[in-house]
Amino acid sequence: MKNQELANKIAESKIGGGQKRIDSQHKKGKLTARERIELLLDTNSFEEIGGLVTHRSTNFGLEKTKFLGDGVVTGYGTVDGRLIYVYSQDFTVLGGSLAEAHAEKICKIMDLAMQNGVPIIGLNDSGGARIQEGVVSLGGYADIFFRNTKASGLIPQLSAIMGPCAGGAVYSPALTDFIFMTKNTSYMFVTGPNVVKTVTNEEVSAEELGGAETHMTKSGVSHFVGENELDTIEKLKKLLSYLPQNCKEIPKNIDYVLNDEVRPSLDNIIPENPNHPYDIKKVIITLIDTDSFFEVQNEYAENIVIGFGRLAGRSIGIIANQPAVLAGVLDVKASTKGARFVRFCDAFNIPLMVIEDVPGFLPGTDQEWNGIISNGAKLLYAFCEATVPRITIITRKAYGGAYDVMNSKHIGADMNYAWPNAEIAVMGSKGAAEIIFKKEIKNSKNPKEKHIEKEKEYADLFANPYNAASRGYIDEVIEPSSTRKKLIKAFKISENKKIECIPKKHGNIPL
Ligand code: HXC
Repeated sequence: MKNQELANKIAESKIGGGQKRIDSQHKKGKLTARERIELLLDTNSFEEIGGLVTHRSTNFGLEKTKFLGDGVVTGYGTVDGRLIYVYSQDFTVLGGSLAEAHAEKICKIMDLAMQNGVPIIGLNDSGGARIQEGVVSLGGYADIFFRNTKASGLIPQLSAIMGPCAGGAVYSPALTDFIFMTKNTSYMFVTGPNVVKTVTNEEVSAEELGGAETHMTKSGVSHFVGENELDTIEKLKKLLSYLPQNCKEIPKNIDYVLNDEVRPSLDNIIPENPNHPYDIKKVIITLIDTDSFFEVQNEYAENIVIGFGRLAGRSIGIIANQPAVLAGVLDVKASTKGARFVRFCDAFNIPLMVIEDVPGFLPGTDQEWNGIISNGAKLLYAFCEATVPRITIITRKAYGGAYDVMNSKHIGADMNYAWPNAEIAVMGSKGAAEIIFKKEIKNSKNPKEKHIEKEKEYADLFANPYNAASRGYIDEVIEPSSTRKKLIKAFKISENKKIECIPKKHGNIPL
C-alpha cells in the first residue's frame, strides 16, 4: 500500500502540468523538461532530487494548484560518463514560473555542484517570476544570482534557453559561462515587445527583439545556436567534452599517437599581396586535430574567431584575428568577445593558442565614442592576467597596440612564433613614411616617388619578423608547415607551468 502511494506520487510528479499541457508544449516544437534531461544525460543516469517539493503559497487560490516538483526538475547524472548537475524548468507547470520552492530546488543543486566540483547546467523555459507569489519570487532569483556569481570560475556553468526567458530572469544565464539558444523557440529580453512599444514606441516582435539569431548576430549574448532542441543539447554536450569538471582540474586529454605533423598547405596559405584577405579558419583547422574545432559565437564580431579545439588530443582555446572580415582589426565587439573567452579558458586551465594577423585597432568616432579604449583594455587585461600556457603565432601583420595586446611576449606569453612573412611594427609602412618623412616627401622634386622610396625603407626595416626576433620578442621564426609540430611540443613543455598569483582581493578589469 505504502509502495503504491510512492508510485502514485512519482507518476504525478513525472506528468508535470498534465498531458494536455505536454501536448501543447510539443505542438510548439518544444520538448518537455524531462525529455530534455533524457537527451542530455547518459541513459538511465539521472537521479532526481526534490521531485516531491511543492510551493507553500496560498495567494490567489494557489493552494489549489499544487504540482509535485513545482515546475522544475532537478538532479544529477552523467554526460559521457562525467558527472553534472542539472535543472530543467517545466513550462507545463504554471509556465515554468519561478517562486520560492522552485528557486530553493535550483539553489540546492547549485550548492551541491559547487561543493562537489561538478559543472551545472540550466535548461531554462519559464514565464519568469511567479506573479501570484510576489516578492518571494524576486528573492528566489537573487538567491540564484548570488550562487551563479560564487560558482563563477569555480565550476563551468552552462545555460540553455529553451523557451521564454524574460525580465530579471535573464541575469542568471547572463552570469553563467555560456548561453545556448534554439532557433525560433527561445527568446531572451529584459523588457518584452509590449513594454518596448509603450516606452519607446518601437514595434518589434519577440523573435526580432530577443530571438536566437538576434542574440547571436547583434548582441553577442548567445554563444551557440541550435537548429532545434536536439541540436542545442548536442552542442552543449560537445562543449562539455573540452572542459574540466572544475577549476582545480585540467581538461581530459584524448589519446593521440604522434604522426607526421607537417602541414605543407600552410606554406602557401598567405596571399602574396599583404593587403589581400584569407580565411584564418582554414589556418586553424589545418593546425589542430581533425574535426576538433568548435567555434564559439561564430556569427558575432567575426573579425575575431574564438573556439575550442584539440592539439594532439589536448583541449585548447583558440583566439585568432580574421583577415577575411574587416581585415582582422580589433574593435569594441571583437575585444570584449576575445577577452571573455580568454578569461574563461584561464579560469578552467585551458591553454591558449593565439593566431595573430592584425592591422591594429579600428579607427573612427563610432569606436572611440563606444569606448574602444576601455573595451580594448579588457582584452589586454585578460591576456596579462592569464596564467595558463599561452602560445602566439604571428602569421602576417602585428601592428601597433594590437601587437602588444594579442598575447605578446611582453604580457606573459610562453612562446611566440612568427612566420617568415610576418610584419611587426608600430604601423604600416605607408602611414609610417607619411609621418616620419613628411618634410622630406613634401620638399622633394617628386613627392610620390619619394614616398614610395621612404615606404620601402621603413618596410625593409620593419615589415619582417627579424627585428622583433633579434630582440627576443619572437622566440622563433618558423616555416608555416612546421607550426603544428612546434605547437604540440610547446604545449607539452608548458603543461606543468605554475604561476603563483599575487595575493590580493581581486583585480579591477576595465569593465
Ligand atoms: C505565473 C504564469 C506565468 C508567471 C505564465 N504562467 N507565466 N503563471 N506566473 N510569470 C502560466 C499561465 O498562466 C498559463 O497557465 C501557463 O503558464 C502557460 O502560459 P500561457 O500564457 O498560456 O503560454 P504562452 O501563450 O506560451 O505564453 C508564454 C508567456 C506568457 C509569453 C511566457 O505566459 C507571459 O507573458 N507570461 C508572463 C510573463 C511575465 O510577465 N513574467 C514576469 C516577468 S517579470 P495555465 O494554468 O493556463 O496553463 C520577472 C521579474 C524577474 O520575471 C525579476 C528577477 C530579478
